[in-house]
Amino acid sequence: MTSLFSLRTAGASADLVGREHGLSATDLEDAAPLAERAGRALVEAREAGKAGFLDLPLRPAVLDECLAAAEDLRGRCETLVVVGMGGSALGARTLLSALGSPLPPGLPGAARNGRPRVLVVDDPDPASFLPLLDALPPASTCWNFVSKSGKTLEPLALYSLLRSRLEAALGPAWRERVILTTDPAGGPLREEASRERLRSLVVPPEAGGRFSVLCAVGLLPAAAAGIDVRGLMRGAAEAAALFQSADPARNDALRLALWLSLLGTKRGKRHHVMVPYAAALAPFAGWWQQLWAESLGKNGTGFDATPAPGPGCQHSLLQLWMEGPRDKAFLFLDVEDPGVDRVIDPPGPPGAPFLSRRTLGDAHRALADGTAAALVRAGRPVIRISLPALRPDVLGAQLQLWMTATALAGPLVGVDPFGQPGVEEGKRNAASLLGREEDAARREGVRDLLDRLRSRR
Ligand code: PA5
Repeated sequence: MTSLFSLRTAGASADLVGREHGLSATDLEDAAPLAERAGRALVEAREAGKAGFLDLPLRPAVLDECLAAAEDLRGRCETLVVVGMGGSALGARTLLSALGSPLPPGLPGAARNGRPRVLVVDDPDPASFLPLLDALPPASTCWNFVSKSGKTLEPLALYSLLRSRLEAALGPAWRERVILTTDPAGGPLREEASRERLRSLVVPPEAGGRFSVLCAVGLLPAAAAGIDVRGLMRGAAEAAALFQSADPARNDALRLALWLSLLGTKRGKRHHVMVPYAAALAPFAGWWQQLWAESLGKNGTGFDATPAPGPGCQHSLLQLWMEGPRDKAFLFLDVEDPGVDRVIDPPGPPGAPFLSRRTLGDAHRALADGTAAALVRAGRPVIRISLPALRPDVLGAQLQLWMTATALAGPLVGVDPFGQPGVEEGKRNAASLLGREEDAARREGVRDLLDRLRSRR
């Protein structure tokens, strides 16, 4: 038991959604040996240096380094722009949205205690990036380029563009405006950091990409924005200590992995939909999407992962969820205490007296409950996770919960959750088209295929 979240699987049980769509006690008992094997596989992955995310919450040195770098930015930059792709961007965006200041980003630094506003860029589209670049004054903007491999096209292209602009505007002082977060030893960004003596932070080789939010990748942007990163790591560490048991009844990460894997493999619920009922958690669902889909989508298996923020999607997708294909399992995420609330005072329009003396939070909760009840009644499985409040420790626990559940779900569905060969293919094709020498061998094949794609027949 933890006070950091509660996980409820009753809405996906055979009792409530029927034998054909939900899981029974017997299904879970039968899966006990599988669960035990998954636990062992994770221990082995940790020993093999693949599951370093398990140890990140216990590394105070990383935290201190990020706090020092964040303190150095304070008062000397109005804006910090974080540039990265996939796992090198989504974690930072999640932390900033869930825990960052609710003040509008346009407010001057003084209103944020000298802290920069932090923006995350993960799209090199010239139509959106160049206007942003041109609008940010070089002398009051800092840039954090994040890439574990240091080779990803987007950050490399944007870094090159930025560097020449900064050099032209600031001369040698351009170096004070850049922090690189990358592999400790290899890759073009690490070389650049050494050659130009740029400030740099490390992505540990054993915890990259979608498992890297709790190292400098997420911690520097969060600390720069003034988020309590110590609290975040405390929650992650507290949760990690709870995810040791091989018994799903005593390990929520294993329970979550087991329920979702079995719903997918035994009940055909291969589309997993995360429905957060907290606007600030919409990016969390995007982070989860990458983690779940990229880690498990291999060897012809895996699950579609769809983020579907609550109230909005309820009015656009619920019809399909209720009466469309029965291939989905739902994950409802809600926050018990929104931190602020207000009573809806009468008089309202005719027909709304039932709202009087209710709060806006009551209405929001009723939407989540009403939708979950409708789905379960229609025999559509719903797993619910409730967070007591959007606090750093609570979010840290949630991140650790999902990274651990994902790492356990890999062996449950028979894949290695830690590689991403499919993503690498796309990246290398793009680099080959632009002339990267190490990918030259594939260039002709890619061009040929593209010619065929252009044909009308
Ligand atoms: O999870 C992953 O490994 C990927 O999504 C990467 O995060 C993404 O491709 C960016 O890679 P890199 O950090 O090497 O630039």
